[in-house]
Amino acid sequence: MSYKENFRRLFELRELALKGGGEERIKKQHEKGKLTARERVRLLLDEGSFVEMDMLVRHRTRDFGLEKQRVPGDGVVTGYGYIDGRLVFVFSQDFTVFGGSLSETFALKITKIMDQAMKVGAPVIGINDSGGARIQEGVRSLGGYAEIFLRNTLASGVVPQISAVMGPCAGGAVYSPAITDFVLMVKNTSYMFVTGPNVVKTVTHEEVTHEELGGAETHASKSGVNHVSCENDVECLQKIRKLISYLPSNYLEDPPKIESDDDPDRVDDFLDDFIPENPNQPYDMYEIIQTIIDRDSFFEIHADYAKNLIVGFARIDGYPVGIVANQPSYLAGVLDIDASVKGARFVRFCDAFNIPIITFEDVPGFLPGTNQEWGGIIRHGAKLLFAFSEATVPKITVIVRKAYGGAYDVMSSKHIRGDVNLAWPSAEIAVMGPKGAAEIIFKRDIALAEDPEAMLAQKEKEYREKFANPFLAAELGYIDEVIEPRFTRKRIVQALRMLENKVDSNPAKKHGNIPL
Ligand code: HXC
Repeated sequence: MSYKENFRRLFELRELALKGGGEERIKKQHEKGKLTARERVRLLLDEGSFVEMDMLVRHRTRDFGLEKQRVPGDGVVTGYGYIDGRLVFVFSQDFTVFGGSLSETFALKITKIMDQAMKVGAPVIGINDSGGARIQEGVRSLGGYAEIFLRNTLASGVVPQISAVMGPCAGGAVYSPAITDFVLMVKNTSYMFVTGPNVVKTVTHEEVTHEELGGAETHASKSGVNHVSCENDVECLQKIRKLISYLPSNYLEDPPKIESDDDPDRVDDFLDDFIPENPNQPYDMYEIIQTIIDRDSFFEIHADYAKNLIVGFARIDGYPVGIVANQPSYLAGVLDIDASVKGARFVRFCDAFNIPIITFEDVPGFLPGTNQEWGGIIRHGAKLLFAFSEATVPKITVIVRKAYGGAYDVMSSKHIRGDVNLAWPSAEIAVMGPKGAAEIIFKRDIALAEDPEAMLAQKEKEYREKFANPFLAAELGYIDEVIEPRFTRKRIVQALRMLENKVDSNPAKKHGNIPL
């Protein structure tokens, strides 16, 4: 037989692979508002750049009639391609083939591209849309998951890993996205849970829908599992492209600097009057961030979770940076458990991938209360402190208003290796707020006073004048400079340029023991 016959065979097999689970199932997928695995890959990558691997792989199961259903590709599309000309590896689970369920060979396809990505130092993007372990395969499928989890763990901090959840992702399968750096979920068509609504009903008697239990909005606002919510598949894929633009391909590279068309010396006069005279009046920290960064460059992470702390990527003079900022218009910008965990995770990501951290600080302290104490604010707050302390990337801090108590230390202070620490004239840097401080240190005077309230007000004023300003910290060198707010962008650009070749390290060790 001539090998020419094999051309025909190849075309046949390719056609079968491209059809996936067939027209009917593709139609169903579209009716649900979902794209197919291949359509997603096409939209994710630069046009025509996808190189598929293992298109002809088939499962090896002979049970439950599966031997008669052996679709080439076996329910997952894998390979590599480019985003803005930069190499990435991708796998995309095909719900039209056995519900995207994971078999041994399916897992092997994924681990193959993960291993390759590690060797060449390129990000891995996983698109999840799956009914979980392929039930007919039993434990082989579980083994496959574990092989993926192991690689997710080993790749953590080596190459960026991004997970898009665009359909079901349940049971143990959730732990692959959970280990990766970022999870993006599509509203109304995706869900993640360890056990579904039926099991929940049996065990806890709670009635809950898929969406309520593990939809995009639930995980964005309640659990923090979802970093970025998306309206639909197309928006999700575009957001992944954007996210990648801030990240280096691996931990040995710097993040990609671009030519910015925004003036690095831009002066923003209105900032000089932006902070309210009344220290208890909130304002919107987003306005400060948006003003100082390169125009329209903010990519927020965890926008709906722990809104008292804002985190996200931006560019300043074209440099990718990580922004960490207290938000006074939500819970007065206080640090609580969720905000601490959110911040710590983000800071550690930036540090792992050489992304400078810019901190905008206005924090009245840690949130008091039994909920917080019993929930472990000590342990969780320590995570943020640990993350900022161990970070060796350039760290620039701007104290905009309040920097009180332990929160002053935690928020990238000079003492934990802040490189450039600036303060606005509106900064209040002290052990605690003036009222609380006066009540404690002048307790006797106030108690003995004819008019205790007037005495408290007077003592509060004294304390405020003495301590609720940036000058004592500046005198001690804890602040490098007190600046006019309008020059903040310029000062940050200068600092970033100065820090471009910063080298710092931590003591040799196997790894630290972040208080989990
Ligand atoms: C094999 C599966 C499958 C699975 C779905 N299918 N899940 N085949 N193994 N896990 C197949 C269906 O038989 C069907 O085949 C097709 O995929 C589409 O499924 P439907 O049920 O018709 O789709 P839909 O109504 O949209 O429901 C989707 C679903 C449901 C909610 C995901 O299919 C479902 O509940 N599947 C089982 C989920 C599950 O229990 N998985 C195992 C979890 S344990 P046809 O031929 O009709 O198109 C697990 C452990 C992992 O995952 C542990 C890792 C550590």
